[in-house]
Amino acid sequence: MDALTALQTRTAAPRLVEPAPQGAALDAILKAGLRAPDHGMLRPWRFLVVSGDARRKLGELFVEAMQPDTEERRKKLLESPLRAPLLIVGIATPKEKDGVPAIEQINSTAAALQNMSVAIHALGFASIWRTGAAAYDPKVKQALGLSSSDAIVGYLYVGTPTVSERPVPELAIKDYVQNWG
Ligand SMILES: Cc1cc2nc3c(=O)[nH]c(=O)nc-3n(C[C@H](O)[C@H](O)[C@H](O)COP(=O)(O)O)c2cc1C
Repeated sequence: MDALTALQTRTAAPRLVEPAPQGAALDAILKAGLRAPDHGMLRPWRFLVVSGDARRKLGELFVEAMQPDTEERRKKLLESPLRAPLLIVGIATPKEKDGVPAIEQINSTAAALQNMSVAIHALGFASIWRTGAAAYDPKVKQALGLSSSDAIVGYLYVGTPTVSERPVPELAIKDYVQNWG
């Protein structure tokens, strides 16, 4: 798929199954992420790839950290990483640097995740970017070995969509863009 088509047609896929990209395809996706714009070239990001049984371990970590108060919530949380065969966790580790505030380093990590999601689509797979409590709970961050200044920018759930991808929303350029001046 050419780059413009990939950029203009990516849609999120909430239900994902095997196969997930692996080997050279996964490397190509990660490499696309590492090409994100990065003020000061601080490389303020790192990524955790979670697949197979490690997804169960991640679900257990969520439950341990968040202590859900009902069995229904516990089960939902425990099984949440199983919604796709592969997860990429995007973590920003902002560094002290004059002129490059933490927000820019978080934005850079978000750009990396977006690059990855387009590359995933271009290779015939699909993904959905998720956050929620699993991204923002301080105890989850701690359990993953992050410091309090690190940020989980997103969990990219990756795999093959179970249904054909949803139609691409048609947004009118004029509704969002004005010529200025
Ligand atoms: C920072 C961020 C966090 C998100 N968190 C969630 C989430 O927790 N759950 C969810 O269903 N969608 C979440 N989304 C939205 C989906 O990834 C997706 O963009 C949305 O369903 C719209 O689909 P589309 O990307 O095909 O337009 C998030 C998106 C972003 C950018």
